[in-house]
Amino acid sequence: MSLTGVGIALIDMTALPVDAVDDAALPLTASEREYCRGKADPRPHVAARLAAKQAACRAFGRPEDQSRDFEVLLDPEGRPSLSLPADLDGLTTHLSLTHDGDYAMATVLAQGQSTR
Ligand SMILES: CC(C)(COP(=O)(O)OP(=O)(O)OC[C@H]1O[C@@H](n2cnc3c(N)ncnc32)[C@H](O)[C@@H]1OP(=O)(O)O)[C@@H](O)C(=O)NCCC(=O)NCCS
Repeated sequence: MSLTGVGIALIDMTALPVDAVDDAALPLTASEREYCRGKADPRPHVAARLAAKQAACRAFGRPEDQSRDFEVLLDPEGRPSLSLPADLDGLTTHLSLTHDGDYAMATVLAQGQSTR
């Protein structure tokens, strides 16, 4: 299956509000917030998810105000993946996240063609 898109994003988590995990203005889903709240310091995990959504918008050539359409899921080993909006059915994505110091980063690769 051919590579059809790539996106990368870097977030400076010091620019986020201290209570970012509870900030309704940020494009996080309820389950993403729940995961981050379970961490001693939620902010790196919030920043990683914001980076993933920005990277996804770039991989799919979408404006960043559509980042709410993407959700970060984790498998039992903690490996992240992306849930896609219905209009991207048929595509396969690969997501990698990292956070260290003040920064969080995400890379998204997209493969295949949308069925819609
Ligand atoms: C993957 C691994 C290297 C990440 O360790 P780390 O640098 O300390 O990073 P953290 O545990 O802080 O996790 C950073 C992000 O890596 C991602 N991650 C966690 N486990 C992962 C895994 N098994 N595979 C891929 N990504 C993983 C998560 O998205 C996490 O961010 P989140 O908790 O906000 O979702 C570590 O979990 C590990 O050594 N796991 C066992 C070996 C393994 O599965 N390696 C995979 C290939 S390197």
